[in-house]
Amino acid sequence: MGEKTKGKMNVGVDLGTSNLLIYVEGRGTVFNEPSIIAIDKASKKVVSVGFDAAGLVGKTHDKVEVIKPLNGGVISDIDMIREILLFTFNKIFMSNMEHINKLLICIPSEITDTEKAAIMKLGQELGIEKTYIDEEIKAAALGGGIDIYNPSGQLVVDIGGGTTDFGVLSLGEVVNSRSIKVAGDYFDKQITNYVKEKHKLEIGPQTAEKIKVALASLTGDLPVNEEGNTLTFSAMGRDLVTGLPQQVSVNAKEIRKILLECFETIKATLISTLESTPPELAGDLVDNGIQITGGGAQIKGVKEYFEKITGVEVRISKYPMTAVVNGTKKLLKIDKKHYYGEF
Ligand SMILES: Nc1ncnc2c1ncn2[C@@H]1O[C@H](COP(=O)(O)OP(=O)(O)OP(=O)(O)O)[C@@H](O)[C@H]1O
Ligand SMILES: [Mg+2]
Repeated sequence: MGEKTKGKMNVGVDLGTSNLLIYVEGRGTVFNEPSIIAIDKASKKVVSVGFDAAGLVGKTHDKVEVIKPLNGGVISDIDMIREILLFTFNKIFMSNMEHINKLLICIPSEITDTEKAAIMKLGQELGIEKTYIDEEIKAAALGGGIDIYNPSGQLVVDIGGGTTDFGVLSLGEVVNSRSIKVAGDYFDKQITNYVKEKHKLEIGPQTAEKIKVALASLTGDLPVNEEGNTLTFSAMGRDLVTGLPQQVSVNAKEIRKILLECFETIKATLISTLESTPPELAGDLVDNGIQITGGGAQIKGVKEYFEKITGVEVRISKYPMTAVVNGTKKLLKIDKKHYYGEF
C-alpha cells in the first residue's frame, strides 16, 4: 500500500455496515478493515480508521469519538462515510486519485437517493472521472460465483453485519429483493440482552461478537471442545449486582437458542421472497439452488438450515466476506449498464 501508481485503473468498494473492502485493479483487495472511524472532537481531524479505530471502541477519553457510520444497512452519518473513504483513498493512492478511471461503490440496499448523491459527489471530490453505484446483493451474487447474466433465476442471501439481504436475479438485474435488519449486529444485541438477563452480566458489543463467532451454530450437533463437551466461552463484563468485573461461561447451546429465534425472521423473509418471485424464475431456483454470502454464512449449520426450509441445494460461498468486493471486480469488467450517474 502507498506506492505511487501508474496508468489508469478501476476501483471497487464494498461499503458494508461492519467492513469496508477496497479492490484496486492490478493490485487486488488492498483494504479489508472495519467500517469504523475515530475523530478528534475538537479539531474534527481523523485519528484512525479501520482496525486502529475498532481497537478504540469503548476505550477512548472525552477528546476522541469512535463512530460506526453505517447502522442496520442505512447511513447514519454521511460526513463520516466521506471521511473514512477520503482517509483510506489517500492512504492507498497517496493522493494520486487521477490514476483512477472508474470507481464502483456497492452500497446497502436501503440507502436514500440523497445519500447516493452524496456518495457520487464524493467521487467527484476525489477527482475520479466516473463513479458508479450498484447494489450489494448483485455484487455478492457475482462474487459468490454465480453467472447472473443468464436468463435463469438465481437466489442469493447475504447475511451481513447490518442487514440480511435476499435477492432474486435474472439477466443481470435484481428482479425481487428484501432486506431486514436481522443480521450480525442484531445477533450480537440479542446475545448481550440474554447475558444481561440470564447471567446478570453487562458485556460490550465486541465481547458479544466474540461469543457469537466462537460458538455460533444452528445445528443440534453443537461444537465441542477437546474433551467432547459442548463448547463454552468465558465472557468478561460487569456484574450487574456488585458492579465489579466478572467472568461468566456461556455455552453453544444457549447461543444456538438465541440464533434460532433470530433465524425465524430470516426464514419468514426467505419464504416471502420465494412466494413473491414470478413462477418461471421460482422454478429456476429449484435447479440453481441458493447462494449464501456475508459474514453470517459462516455460522455452523446455515446450509442445512436453509436446505431444510426450502428443499433446494444451498451453497455457502467459499469466501463469504469478500464476495461483494470480488463481485465489484467482475462488475467493473463486464457490466456496462449499471451506473447510477456519471460526472
Ligand atoms: N465465523 C463467524 N460466525 C458468525 N458470524 C460471523 C463470523 N465471522 C464474521 N461474522 C459476522 O459477520 C458480520 C460481518 O459480515 P460482513 O462483512 O459480510 O458484513 P457487512 O458487509 O459489513 O454488512 P452489511 O452487508 O450488512 O452492510 C459481523 O456481524 C460479524 O460478527
Ligand atoms: Mg455486506
